[in-house]
Amino acid sequence: MTETANSGAQRQTWTSNRGFILAAIGSAVGLGNIWRFPGVAYDSGGGAFLIPYLIALVTAGLPILFLDYSIGQRFRGAAPLALRRLTKRAEVIGWFQTMLLFIISVYYAAVIAWALSYFYFSFGNKWGSDTTAFFLSDYLHATDEAGVSTDLVAGVAWPLAAVWVLIIVILALGIANGVEKVNVIGIPLLILGFGALVIRAVTLPGATDGLNALFTPDWGALTDLNVWIAAYSQIFFSMSIAFGIMIAYSSFQRRRANMTSSGLVVGFANSSFEILAGIGVFSALGFLANQQGVGVGELEGLTGPILSFVTFPAVISEMPGSVLFGVLFFGSLVIAGFTSLVSLVVGVSIAVQEKFGLSQRTAAVTVGVVSAVVSFSLFATTTGLWTLDTVDQYANNVGVVLSAIVMTVSVVWVARKGDLLRRHLNAISTFKLGRWWLVLIGIVGPIFLTVMLVQKVIDLISDGYEGYPDWYLNVFGWGTVGLAVVGAILFTVASWGGRDDKDFQAWPSDEFLEGQKR
Ligand code: PHE
Repeated sequence: MTETANSGAQRQTWTSNRGFILAAIGSAVGLGNIWRFPGVAYDSGGGAFLIPYLIALVTAGLPILFLDYSIGQRFRGAAPLALRRLTKRAEVIGWFQTMLLFIISVYYAAVIAWALSYFYFSFGNKWGSDTTAFFLSDYLHATDEAGVSTDLVAGVAWPLAAVWVLIIVILALGIANGVEKVNVIGIPLLILGFGALVIRAVTLPGATDGLNALFTPDWGALTDLNVWIAAYSQIFFSMSIAFGIMIAYSSFQRRRANMTSSGLVVGFANSSFEILAGIGVFSALGFLANQQGVGVGELEGLTGPILSFVTFPAVISEMPGSVLFGVLFFGSLVIAGFTSLVSLVVGVSIAVQEKFGLSQRTAAVTVGVVSAVVSFSLFATTTGLWTLDTVDQYANNVGVVLSAIVMTVSVVWVARKGDLLRRHLNAISTFKLGRWWLVLIGIVGPIFLTVMLVQKVIDLISDGYEGYPDWYLNVFGWGTVGLAVVGAILFTVASWGGRDDKDFQAWPSDEFLEGQKR
């Protein structure tokens, strides 16, 4: 029997619930946990940040994760197909999410390529003593200013090519043989490697200074709206929610699967990893400050690419017998990033496969090649760093928040399917959702997210971002959001090629769920 993408019946599945959980953790735990969380927490109130962070986890993170799960698992498709089955007009939301995935995947791959190079450099501390100059000039050959260049940087292009080839192979192998295997191998390896790194880090001289810097609460931060915004964005990016990925991943779950309990495991694992990364990274920074005889607060570059590729190499250079430390750090970055990248590209590839009725292989190769070409031309060049920073800012602070608002409001208020999805989850899961879940995804979430989005848009319009020129922000910042909207519309109006969806049967049936009291 051919694997027709649209039929729920012969849809491929994970080999076990454990496979699904590992893959979902693999998607969630990524660059966001290692290079984003520690810096964001430090900037946003240190120890006090944990309060908005945990509130964001409970009020938006887990509830929207459950929503993604229920949509994918019930309607058995990547975001466009699943949302279309929920209610026809929602297909466009699925494509908007798919466009965001595509946009994120093309730069995310570049960061993994850098990490791969640095993994190799760790064997000889190749970055020398001036790690800033090494990263910007020797490695990236970055231009002084943001701009557009077509000069490829060989040092980035080669590992980037390796990343894309591997991605295409894994996707072509399919969900159980490709995606699941990578995670079943990768996640335990990551936990061991990163665990060892954290243990080493906390025993370094000066580690406690770093931990004090990270965890000493600045309670005043709690009254700052931006701190709350930072907490919610971190939760979204980190848990990979409202991007359509979790919809696609749960569409490969069996019909009977304990969804909410798995979600709790995934959410807990992701946040634990995040806090662990904060502990490891800040212990190491405490050590660096200690060696340089300065306070941790006086160190520069405590977040983003600079933290991983400039500050961390400086830490490593200060350590005796540092090869292992560097190898563990960059190795962890590669694995964590790679398993997330797999999920990003899966989300796009399955969406395209279902819409155009392609085979899994054709979809994997087509999507992989197109993504790779864009990835090379924008991010393996001498202006890659600047473009990456800009695209990342807008895709994550504007794009995904918009996606979350539109999705929750459409499902709960327009299509009125919130309670159906709640009963669906309750019918198959052991952790039951009460009506409070509808309140969170239908009222609390959308209100808070809207406030946050408006504030962010006002900030970006009035202050720009990182001092980049206006034209640059218009093209690569707002242009990114615009591209996602236009792409979403074009993919939605494209025809499903006559494949009709009439034989799709949701299970358990709507009638059955109607009769369920809980
Ligand atoms: N959650 C991943 C991380 O923390 C990144 C990611 C975002 C993956 C969105 C998929 C979708 O790095």
